[in-house]
Amino acid sequence: MNFTRTTLACALALGTTFAGAQTTAKLKVGLMLPATGTFASLGTAIENGFRLHIAEQGGKLAGREIEFFKVDDESDPSKAVDNATKLVSRDKVDVLVGTVHSGVAMAMAKVAKDTGTMLIVPNAGADAVTGAMCAPHIFRSSFSNWQPGYAMGEVMAKRGHKNVVTITWKYAAGDESVRGFREAFEKGGGKVVKELALPFPNVEFQALLTEIAAARPDAVYTFFAGGGAVKFVKDYAGAGLRGKIPLYGAGFLTDGTLEAQGADAQGMFTTLHYADSLNTARDNAFRLAYAKAYKLQPDVYAVQGYDAAQMLSVGLAAVKGDIGKKAEFAAALRKAKIDSPRGPFTISNSHNPVQDIYLREVGGKENKSIGIASKALADPGRGCRM
Ligand code: BEZ
Repeated sequence: MNFTRTTLACALALGTTFAGAQTTAKLKVGLMLPATGTFASLGTAIENGFRLHIAEQGGKLAGREIEFFKVDDESDPSKAVDNATKLVSRDKVDVLVGTVHSGVAMAMAKVAKDTGTMLIVPNAGADAVTGAMCAPHIFRSSFSNWQPGYAMGEVMAKRGHKNVVTITWKYAAGDESVRGFREAFEKGGGKVVKELALPFPNVEFQALLTEIAAARPDAVYTFFAGGGAVKFVKDYAGAGLRGKIPLYGAGFLTDGTLEAQGADAQGMFTTLHYADSLNTARDNAFRLAYAKAYKLQPDVYAVQGYDAAQMLSVGLAAVKGDIGKKAEFAAALRKAKIDSPRGPFTISNSHNPVQDIYLREVGGKENKSIGIASKALADPGRGCRM
């Protein structure tokens, strides 16, 4: 076989053609999400959203069919490096997509950095992922923990609250959400009088609720999500605090949870980069397609999964399917405007969405937008040197 024929044979084996260098082999996507535990339903919504975008593209992105490899990360940081390494080394995925839990996402970012694997984070807000750990091939389609917390700090200061107690899980997401909240709230003249926390995913809230009642703050700010958020809102009401001390939160407190929280969540205010009642043509079309495909209403997690696939789509199109061209992939995303159901967003130089944060009020089974709390809010991206 002469040089040309050998090269051609190799190229075909790799799924690459010469004319325009389009890569055609299947793209291996490693989905690392929780399928069990307090965040299980969040993982399902992310996967649904991700698959919906691909289905809308006829099952291919940039001409490449998608092959999925899946692992249940159990929202357990102690298993995260092993789980991500399995996808990268055993399954040889081209891109990692995950996850929900900030501690697990930081381990994924480490594996992505060590192995040069593309990573798109469809939820976990760990500030470091698009801060100190940022890299040309690490992206996030969701938010940084700082963003909804900071927006709520401004809202609560403007609403005249002065003394606030915070309560959350003691791990990166809770700590950083409270830090963002505190930064804006204290800038606005308020004071965080007590920070309460319990280990993730503990839901024995009683002793801490007793402390809140004794401290008698003007209001409470909280970060909880998934099954823990359902229980917290119900226990807050059960302890007799609802109606006495207003409860606010980053929007995860009431997203995907309202069915189970029922009357105990009515009237609560939260801040988030999505709401149920946006009533834009883009969001209405997304909601209809999602409801048709899954017989479920979408939530913020579904949107983030959908947008992770949209980001992959934009990057891949720019490199004609050759995901190895990381610099060109990143350059395309940094210039892009993602046409998200949440509203269009851009991507910062450290690869986190720059986006509007809505102020939402719970009414019935919806988080209704009652305005924009922070317009085009960018994470400060501390520590990113790319
Ligand atoms: C996190 O761990 O970053 C997280 C988990 C659930 C909802 C939002 C953030």
